[in-house]
Amino acid sequence: MNEMQQPAVGTVGHASAPSNIALVKYWGKEPGARQMPTNSSLSMTLSDLRTYTRVEFCRGPRPGDAPDRAERLLDEMCPWQGYHFTYTTQNQFPTACGIASSASGFCALVGAVSDCLSLNESMSVEEHAEWCQHWCRLGSGSSIRSLYGGFVAWEAAVARRVESVVNLMHMVVVLDPFPKTVGSNAGHEGARTSPLHRIRQVDSQDTFARVEGALASNDLKTLTKLTEHEYLIMHAVMMTSKPPIDYMNSDCLRFCSEFAKWRDARSLSAMVTVDAGSNPCSSPNTKRRFVRFASVFPTFNSF
Ligand code: PMV
Repeated sequence: MNEMQQPAVGTVGHASAPSNIALVKYWGKEPGARQMPTNSSLSMTLSDLRTYTRVEFCRGPRPGDAPDRAERLLDEMCPWQGYHFTYTTQNQFPTACGIASSASGFCALVGAVSDCLSLNESMSVEEHAEWCQHWCRLGSGSSIRSLYGGFVAWEAAVARRVESVVNLMHMVVVLDPFPKTVGSNAGHEGARTSPLHRIRQVDSQDTFARVEGALASNDLKTLTKLTEHEYLIMHAVMMTSKPPIDYMNSDCLRFCSEFAKWRDARSLSAMVTVDAGSNPCSSPNTKRRFVRFASVFPTFNSF
């Protein structure tokens, strides 16, 4: 990999990045390895739910003694002693309530640093993809999947696009816009304390392969069945962890069950999933084309 050129003080970088919703969920990390998932995951990119971020390269040590999570990552990303990056960021949607703001947030942060350092000029496409994947994964695991459009698989340290003709419209139902009290990092740590975790690990590898197959063959019935099984088993792991996590509260549960009844009564093609929060995402099938990035490599839209 080429040496990174130190930018002039005051150089800024901008990026925006989309959120994503996992059909096969990442829940649990390998012990002893940093941000290595215990299972492969697969998501759909939510191109219209975005984070917009600006970074600036500054002289001197970072002021203050309690850097936040993004600042800690920025400090790791800055190889030059006596300098730091500052950032400002804005989400278009509620933060920290299970709509994967950390995925779009960390992806946009990594994109903004890449823009500030003009890495797409100094690195090959492959080096740049590897650099982005590395830092996104360390920032927030699921953000590695926000680097690409359409459907994206993440296995160990690598993310890749999954080819599919499936077109899904996406809708977020905000039942609870308030920040969650247990962050996903603590949740990942606790996953191993659930007796269901090992079962889910085996199960989700199989689900991953079958979801990829369903996406390839446009088999929406199978995709719906697997996606809904997957969120339920992940929440079962959460609820049986020590201490238990109840993102799946009674409002959320009621919505999911009413949604399934409403859908089945009308024989609609639609599915529901719930991430680490209490806000369901439903995906009715639609003729509307799902917006995809044309590139198979990381793409950041400037704003
Ligand atoms: O990337 P993290 O550490 O915020 O974890 C995300 C976990 C889930 O959203 C529940 C599942 C997923 O794969 O996105």
